[in-house]
Amino acid sequence: MLEAVAKLAQEYHLPCQVSLEEFMACAVGGCAGCVVEVQTETGPAMKRVCVDGPVFDSNAVFPAA
Ligand code: FES
Repeated sequence: MLEAVAKLAQEYHLPCQVSLEEFMACAVGGCAGCVVEVQTETGPAMKRVCVDGPVFDSNAVFPAA
Protein backbone atom coordinates (compact mmCIF):
# COMPACT_ATOMS: atom_id res chain seq x y z
CA MET A 1 0.00 0.00 0.00
CA LEU A 2 2.83 2.41 0.81
CA GLU A 3 4.32 1.79 -2.61
CA ALA A 4 0.98 2.51 -4.28
CA VAL A 5 0.67 5.80 -2.38
CA ALA A 6 4.25 6.68 -3.29
CA LYS A 7 3.56 6.01 -6.97
CA LEU A 8 0.45 8.20 -6.87
CA ALA A 9 2.43 11.01 -5.25
CA GLN A 10 5.10 10.69 -7.93
CA GLU A 11 2.46 10.72 -10.65
CA TYR A 12 0.91 13.94 -9.31
CA HIS A 13 4.25 15.48 -8.29
CA LEU A 14 3.28 15.69 -4.62
CA PRO A 15 5.65 15.48 -1.66
CA CYS A 16 5.20 12.23 0.24
CA GLN A 17 6.72 10.54 3.25
CA VAL A 18 6.19 6.92 4.28
CA SER A 19 6.38 5.46 7.77
CA LEU A 20 7.92 2.00 7.51
CA GLU A 21 7.37 -1.00 9.73
CA GLU A 22 10.05 -3.65 10.02
CA PHE A 23 10.87 -6.55 12.33
CA MET A 24 13.15 -5.23 15.07
CA ALA A 25 15.42 -7.15 17.39
CA CYS A 26 17.11 -4.40 19.41
CA ALA A 27 15.27 -1.22 18.35
CA VAL A 28 18.27 0.93 19.30
CA GLY A 29 20.41 0.69 16.16
CA GLY A 30 22.78 -2.06 17.23
CA CYS A 31 21.78 -5.18 15.33
CA ALA A 32 21.02 -3.98 11.77
CA GLY A 33 18.03 -6.28 11.74
CA CYS A 34 15.69 -3.62 10.44
CA VAL A 35 17.64 -2.19 7.51
CA VAL A 36 15.97 -1.09 4.29
CA GLU A 37 17.56 0.12 1.07
CA VAL A 38 17.00 3.79 0.29
CA GLN A 39 18.29 5.98 -2.49
CA THR A 40 20.52 8.87 -1.45
CA GLU A 41 22.31 11.60 -3.39
CA THR A 42 25.40 9.37 -3.46
CA GLY A 43 23.56 6.18 -4.43
CA PRO A 44 21.84 3.33 -2.63
CA ALA A 45 22.33 3.06 1.12
CA MET A 46 21.08 0.82 3.89
CA LYS A 47 19.19 2.67 6.63
CA ARG A 48 17.96 1.35 9.97
CA VAL A 49 14.23 1.83 10.36
CA CYS A 50 14.50 1.99 14.17
CA VAL A 51 16.92 4.92 14.38
CA ASP A 52 17.16 6.46 10.88
CA GLY A 53 13.39 6.32 10.37
CA PRO A 54 10.79 5.13 10.57
CA VAL A 55 9.70 8.04 8.34
CA PHE A 56 11.49 8.37 5.00
CA ASP A 57 10.88 10.35 1.85
CA SER A 58 8.84 8.10 -0.41
CA ASN A 59 11.08 8.79 -3.41
CA ALA A 60 14.06 7.45 -1.44
CA VAL A 61 12.29 4.21 -0.61
CA PHE A 62 10.34 3.75 -3.84
CA PRO A 63 12.33 5.48 -6.57
CA ALA A 64 10.54 6.24 -9.82
CA ALA A 65 11.04 3.63 -12.50
S1 FES B 1 16.22 -3.22 15.31
FE1 FES B 1 18.33 -3.42 15.68
S2 FES B 1 19.20 -1.90 14.41
FE2 FES B 1 17.07 -1.61 14.16
